[in-house]
Amino acid sequence: IKKIGVLTSGGDSPGMNAAIRSVVRTCAYYKVECMGIYRGYQGMIEGDFKDMGPRSVHNIVNKGGTILKSARSKDFMTPEGRKQAYENLVKENIDALVIIGGDGSFTGALVFNKEFGIPVMGIPGTIDNDIFGTSHTLGFDTALNTVVDVIDKIRDTASSHNRLFLVEVMGRDAGHIALNAGIGAGAEEILIPEENMGLERLLESLRRSKLSGKSSSIVVIAEGDKIGKSVFELKDYIDQNLPEYEVRVSVLGHMQRGGSPSCFDRVLASRLGVKSVESLLEGKSGYMVGLNNDKVELTPLEQAIKGHSEIDRELLKVSDIMSI
Ligand code: F6P
Repeated sequence: IKKIGVLTSGGDSPGMNAAIRSVVRTCAYYKVECMGIYRGYQGMIEGDFKDMGPRSVHNIVNKGGTILKSARSKDFMTPEGRKQAYENLVKENIDALVIIGGDGSFTGALVFNKEFGIPVMGIPGTIDNDIFGTSHTLGFDTALNTVVDVIDKIRDTASSHNRLFLVEVMGRDAGHIALNAGIGAGAEEILIPEENMGLERLLESLRRSKLSGKSSSIVVIAEGDKIGKSVFELKDYIDQNLPEYEVRVSVLGHMQRGGSPSCFDRVLASRLGVKSVESLLEGKSGYMVGLNNDKVELTPLEQAIKGHSEIDRELLKVSDIMSI
């Protein structure tokens, strides 16, 4: 392998820049050329490339977002789009790819690899932590810290006004952010898609906590929860059924995806970047590099895409006990 292309695809996440930096510098270390591909697969189709060396990635280890920009490319889902992308890679002599993104990006990588035989390696980058084969995706830890910081602030108002706050967090179809940040921020209840607690149990729990003398409460709700009501409908429902509560809603939104990556995410990004390039140079292809029991390990992309990243059920119990 003489020249590796690196791209970020799908939703951005804190730590993607640190991963780009790591891939570029590892290439330089092993004397392999490296090319950045802008806007993910879309840039590959449009030939939006740039040579990168160790100095082109200075001062980015601490930056959120992605300097290579990101996109969810519809054209890459078509055989014509992928053919065009492959022709552009051949023109630039790029003979392997590192893809930083989530499962949609990995699916694209695998199809591309099967069609054209180009070696690919994936680095999991998403705040949702919903990828099988790694305990942490890039950006998850930073997002947790952001959510906990914000809920700490919301708590000031909740307790000053004796209010109940419904805080909606991201996570797509997974409850990892809600469950972990909810425990970290001392939430009364946590609603996640993996565990449908039901409306009645929620009301019961809120009734109990009022009776036990709690004056304010925070309920953290994953955007993908299965309770069957939007967070605003849930507010109306609680207003009607528990008039003793004054309820407010806070939807945190994209603030959870931004900001400077935590030290954990920077170190993880650096480790995964090194391993992705080394694995390609060892002749491996079609894997995702991830973290398991603090070891960097490879998981076949196929499994990373199809497998389910389970929530830690012990945390459900911890959360229950903490809200007594
Ligand atoms: O996958 C990251 C994520 O932020 C999810 O948590 C969320 O559901 C989705 O992306 C939002 O996507 P968009 O930025 O396209 O609205």
